[in-house]
Amino acid sequence: EAISFQKTYEKIMRDIIPTLPKERGWMLGNHILQYKGFWLSTTSILEGVVFLQHHFKPRPTDIILATSPKTGTTWFKALIFATMKRTTFELSSHPLLTTGPHGLFPFLDTYIFQNDHYQDSISSLKSLPSPRLFSTHVPYSMLPDSATDASSGCRFVYICRNPKDIFVSMWFFANKSRTKEVSPMSLEEAFELFCRGVSPYGPYWDHVLGYWKASLESPNKILFLKYEDMKNDPVVHVRRLAEFIGKPFSAEEERNGAVEEIIRLCSFENLSNLEINKNGAERFSPEIAIDKSNFFRKGQVGDWKNYLTEEMAKRIDQISDDKLYGSGLKF
Ligand code: A3P
Repeated sequence: EAISFQKTYEKIMRDIIPTLPKERGWMLGNHILQYKGFWLSTTSILEGVVFLQHHFKPRPTDIILATSPKTGTTWFKALIFATMKRTTFELSSHPLLTTGPHGLFPFLDTYIFQNDHYQDSISSLKSLPSPRLFSTHVPYSMLPDSATDASSGCRFVYICRNPKDIFVSMWFFANKSRTKEVSPMSLEEAFELFCRGVSPYGPYWDHVLGYWKASLESPNKILFLKYEDMKNDPVVHVRRLAEFIGKPFSAEEERNGAVEEIIRLCSFENLSNLEINKNGAERFSPEIAIDKSNFFRKGQVGDWKNYLTEEMAKRIDQISDDKLYGSGLKF
């Protein structure tokens, strides 16, 4: 198995990467590469995806948070962790106060780099206690069959968000997080790339549709949620989340305000003001380290109105109408 991973990986590096379409990178390197229809920011992500395909063995108790970047991954990591572990930790000494959402919720795409040697990463994947919580940005079509097979039993929570807000969020994030070699990108340049689908893990619309269709086919396996719905009515959606992950709130917990407590703990105001989320960087791979504070900007719905012209907004709406036509999904 290890040999087959090594061989596949070497083949990809040697024979496939040089042939992949390239475009201007947003933040982690000068180029972004198109692999199986989606744009990946670094070759290390590609390495991570191949690793998953060979070594990820899902368990029926696994919960995988699947998102496109900037859809609220950080927030939902906190919400799922706090909901799942609410009987394990007291609020006053909660791990979210001292570790931060990303540290508590391993990112599958770069799991291979969790240890110096990938074989140790395989062992650590195996030794994590159940229920394991993971996150991923990998598009549905690129997930290992082991995870998408109906028989595998692991479950996904997918978050989608209005693409106009995502674009603005991503532009700010990329400009703050880009490595020195990458030149700054104007809003207009980034907009063109985003609309053409050339953004990290993009095209955004294809990412959403992959999980949307799968959620219609397997609603018990994939819970499809929207950032905006969680913002508008967090009580209802945290309850849904809790039921889906197999930890429904009891009547007594409801009476005692357990749902509201989790919402407060995970709120933008609370998390963004914690020292743990303000200082230092989160290292995902040897080449990917992101300042923790960059994961928190405004946390609002509709901030795009402050940055996009009417024409830009119309263009994204038109792409959304075309792409989502007939799917039953609306942003
Ligand atoms: P904005 O840039 O629009 O503010 P991700 O975690 O997927 O990278 O997404 C980041 C986006 O989620 C940013 O959006 C960030 O501010 C917002 N966010 C982070 N924590 C949040 C929270 N607790 N509640 C709501 N939004 C949050």
